[in-house]
Amino acid sequence: MVVTKVFRVDPAKPSVDAVRYAARVIRDGGLVAFPTETVYGLGANAFNAKAVERIYVAKGRPLDNPIIVHICDFSQLELVASRIPEDAYRLAERLWPGPLTLLLPRDPRIPYVVTAGLETVAVRMPAHPVALELIREANVPVAAPSANLSGKPSPTRGDHVVEDLYSRVEVILDAGETLYGVESTIINLLSDPPMLLRPGAYTVEDIERILGRSIAVPEFARGLGEAEKALAPGMKHRHYAPNTPLILVEAEDYGELQRLLDATRRAVLDYKMRGFKVAVISYAETYKHYEGIADSVLVVGSRGNIYEVARNLFATLRTLDKLNVDVAIMEGVEDKGLGLAVMNRVRKASTSRIKA
Ligand code: TXA
Ligand code: MG
Repeated sequence: MVVTKVFRVDPAKPSVDAVRYAARVIRDGGLVAFPTETVYGLGANAFNAKAVERIYVAKGRPLDNPIIVHICDFSQLELVASRIPEDAYRLAERLWPGPLTLLLPRDPRIPYVVTAGLETVAVRMPAHPVALELIREANVPVAAPSANLSGKPSPTRGDHVVEDLYSRVEVILDAGETLYGVESTIINLLSDPPMLLRPGAYTVEDIERILGRSIAVPEFARGLGEAEKALAPGMKHRHYAPNTPLILVEAEDYGELQRLLDATRRAVLDYKMRGFKVAVISYAETYKHYEGIADSVLVVGSRGNIYEVARNLFATLRTLDKLNVDVAIMEGVEDKGLGLAVMNRVRKASTSRIKA
């Protein structure tokens, strides 16, 4: 048991006192949950192996799942990575601070507990005033996975962090809802061509435009198949999963939405007829389709606004578990642009998939 202090902070203008207090906790080897523009992170001093070990314990995270190092400026980049390729600077200069994580050669100052024994380190500069102030005040790079209990959906609101980590961490900085709601895009620049390891808030198209060439998008980055350990250690762990069994309905062609809606409705009826309590995860345009047949209908956003869907996704999966239904059926979206990040999360969260 740890005594947890929760500070409400203004995301735009965080109180200096709260951030200073949290930074001191980081320097002293403690754990601080903080907001980023993607999801909340659970941070510790990246140079302090004992402090980072505590992250694994607090989250119940498998020790072979490496942790992203967060930096506040380019001078810190050279403290954590070495032999940094040109492409890394090209991307970072355009996209940092922001939801991009780069896989780079590890500097020996970064302990193996951060990288789970790998010679690579994942690095990013978050675009959130609270995160940047915290790292600057602590004056050390901050190792931080998402601030959820291992296996649960990532936290996009302070109360999600309180729910998962209260009495496991020293400080929670609660700045309300995060902007993107899905995690950063992870790129391996050490392979040729560069490889997408996890789709995220920045799209593949954003990154290819800046690099001026294509990046490889393996099946596992789409949320399909299994990650090969050598390609993407850590990607093999189950993620984002609600406790409620989730069935994802995917369309061959999202231009023919009616087929998808009919297949989803049939799945709902099928479970209802077998006596199950059923929830549907749907959209502003389509939720009416299930009224009167499903026990609950959750609207994750509008089909016309994938940013809204991404922002609400994890909160919706957490709400789902509070409904006490036996099964949930979710309509998919097209896995293009930010939709790729959404579908990667939903496919990994699902227990089975149906093609409409
Ligand atoms: O947006 C984000 O990236 C958030 C915020 C807090 O920054 N962080 C986040 O961390 O999503 P986490 O730990 O939940 O996901 C990081 C992923 C894991 O799947 C891990 O396996 C992978 O990054 N990763 C970290 N270091 C790696 C490395 N050296 N090689 C391969 N994968 C790595
Ligand atoms: Mg995570």
